[in-house]
Amino acid sequence: MTIRTNCLVLCLATLLLVSAPWSVAVPSSGSALARGQSFPILTQDQIATFRPYTLFASAAYCNPSITGTWTCGANCDANPGFQPTASGGNDGTVQYWYVGYDPTLDKVIVAHQGTDSDNLTADLTDVEITMDPLDPTLFPGLSSTVHVHTGFRDAHARTATTILSEVQTALSQHSTQEVVITGHSLGAALSLLDAIYLSLHLPSNIKISTIGYGLPRVGDAAFANYVDAHVDLTHITNKHDPFPILPFQFLGFRQPSNEVHIDQNNNWVQCPGQENDSTECIDGAVPFFWEGTPGDHEGPYDGIVMGLGQC
Ligand SMILES: *[C@@H]1O[C@H](CO)[C@@H](O)[C@H](O)[C@H]1NC(C)=O
Ligand SMILES: *[C@@H]1O[C@H](CO)[C@@H](O)[C@H](O)[C@H]1NC(C)=O
Repeated sequence: MTIRTNCLVLCLATLLLVSAPWSVAVPSSGSALARGQSFPILTQDQIATFRPYTLFASAAYCNPSITGTWTCGANCDANPGFQPTASGGNDGTVQYWYVGYDPTLDKVIVAHQGTDSDNLTADLTDVEITMDPLDPTLFPGLSSTVHVHTGFRDAHARTATTILSEVQTALSQHSTQEVVITGHSLGAALSLLDAIYLSLHLPSNIKISTIGYGLPRVGDAAFANYVDAHVDLTHITNKHDPFPILPFQFLGFRQPSNEVHIDQNNNWVQCPGQENDSTECIDGAVPFFWEGTPGDHEGPYDGIVMGLGQC
């Protein structure tokens, strides 16, 4: 993450000015939608299909020395057959990650660590946040009209080629043609960028998907539209987590489609479209960053909590 300027005073002043009208407009249109209709919810069986990936995302917070031997405790034990093939990262500039093969799922798994909420708040509420095109060497052919958060782009680039080569190795050792990339928070952002990156470098018969928990906004509208057209993404938002509504939309950031929102009754609601402002989805549930509940960022997601404390 390269953006550290925490312009608290400027942020608050700017936000009060820029977003004041939203506080009136968003909740009223949101609740009107919610009264008029109810979005589909996942069955218990459908929720259960996410469980292995939720555990993988939580395990990504653990030191690579214990994900590399799959001895990270309860989250590792709950996916008992998993065979890690590589792990890495450090406590500073490179988020932890691991790659491996799960024989039960018959898939190659890539998982990325997130970051703590304090770091994320400092980074993502910054109104001086910048967006840039993706590096054409890593993302050949991607339009330069697609812009992403500079810090996410740079953090992704630090592990990109290593992860590609580890995924190629894992695919060569197993007959599977499926890769699932998962992570929480910053780890979800890195996973989404990896899903695009890997699809540009792996053969087209390899099916790539990504499941993100508490995904912040990663790029602009062109990015969100690219993701909708090219990436098999599910992003799961929890209750009143304020981080999926950062960075602010008025800076040009936009979430792609395929949000699944966990509501106050623990229903997993399928939200139609990008940034659906119904109170059944995250934009309507948290119309304002400071109306959110930061603790909801960590979960629980179907009983599974994210963060360092789980290792
Ligand atoms: C995140 O937190 C760590 C540990 O407190 C700190 O060293 C690092 O500078 C923080 N990063 C950012 C971007 O604020
Ligand atoms: C939310 O979804 C409903 C149902 O598909 C749709 O009518 C509405 O326009 C959507 N709102 C937004 C902001 O996408």
